[in-house]
Amino acid sequence: MEIEIRRTETPRTPPAPGELGFGRVFSDHMFVADWTDGRGWHDARVVPYAPFELDPAAAVFHYGQAMFEGLKAFRGQDGQVRLFRVDRHARRMHDGASRLCMPPMEAEDLVAAIRAVVKADAAWVPGAPGTALYIRPTLIATEPFLGVRPSRRYALFVILSPVGAYYPEGINPVKIWVEQRYVRAARGGLGAVKAGANYASSLRAALDAQKLGYAQVLWLDASEHRWCEEMGVMNLFVRIGDRVITPPLEGTILDGVTRASVLDLLAEWGVPHSERRLSIDEVVDAHRDGSLAEVWGCGTAAVISPVGELCWQGEKLKIADGAMGPLARRLYDTITGVQYGGADTRGWMTAV
Ligand code: COI
Repeated sequence: MEIEIRRTETPRTPPAPGELGFGRVFSDHMFVADWTDGRGWHDARVVPYAPFELDPAAAVFHYGQAMFEGLKAFRGQDGQVRLFRVDRHARRMHDGASRLCMPPMEAEDLVAAIRAVVKADAAWVPGAPGTALYIRPTLIATEPFLGVRPSRRYALFVILSPVGAYYPEGINPVKIWVEQRYVRAARGGLGAVKAGANYASSLRAALDAQKLGYAQVLWLDASEHRWCEEMGVMNLFVRIGDRVITPPLEGTILDGVTRASVLDLLAEWGVPHSERRLSIDEVVDAHRDGSLAEVWGCGTAAVISPVGELCWQGEKLKIADGAMGPLARRLYDTITGVQYGGADTRGWMTAV
């Protein structure tokens, strides 16, 4: 794939690290490519960041044909900019597109696109601990047509946002509401794909939980309201005694890149762990008998987000002493250690 590079004539100054929140500030450039029926992907380009002009009839606005990725570039202590598991993110976007009847971009082309735009905005990769350049590849349907069928035109763009912590709590434990009313995904639905629609459907529950003082919800399955699935916008891990459990990938859960990295590390460290169904009753029972040792969510944005309290049917379950547990801490330190330029023995990092 040929990528045309057109640089901005008015470069801006990136914000100071102390001013970074999550996803509010965008860099000077973006990658864009178009897809048309019969022609495939074309006009791949890195151009100055700017609003798009889209027809109000564009399919994305009406029937939600949209999906995205989220990954990060880090500035190592040596100053080098590196991407975390970019191949895996590109493959996930490629593999997910067909569920939404969208044209996939070859993973190696998407990696090339990400590298090109991050290279153009390398000055926007912050260097302070806990900061990164968040990379948001997005695929949308652009054909102006109101009939319900897959669009015949698409755009794929990649925008960049220098970020600090995702939750204002940082890595301090969050309080989580176990959701009984709303569901995130059902079998056969979109739960395993990073579709914008999954996030739209999560907002009501999250907002209601926040009004009650909870940072996010723990999602239960759609048919029995019994099996733990994801936590907010992250994958869920629970340690009961010395065994770590994470729900299996059965079509309703995202195949998280941080989830996969956590599983790799647990295997490497010899920590007993299983990918299996975990009922909320099992979690509550473990709390009652004192064996519920740690609960955390993991994802690209927050890396590891420990849970200090779960609220289930009005009962508040305090986890350990409400502090970050030792295994969550070890995972966080190890993953961020590699991200910021520590020894990369697993081939997770790609220099830009
Ligand atoms: C992540 O954990 O990276 C997410 O998926 C959150 C993102 C949608 C902001």
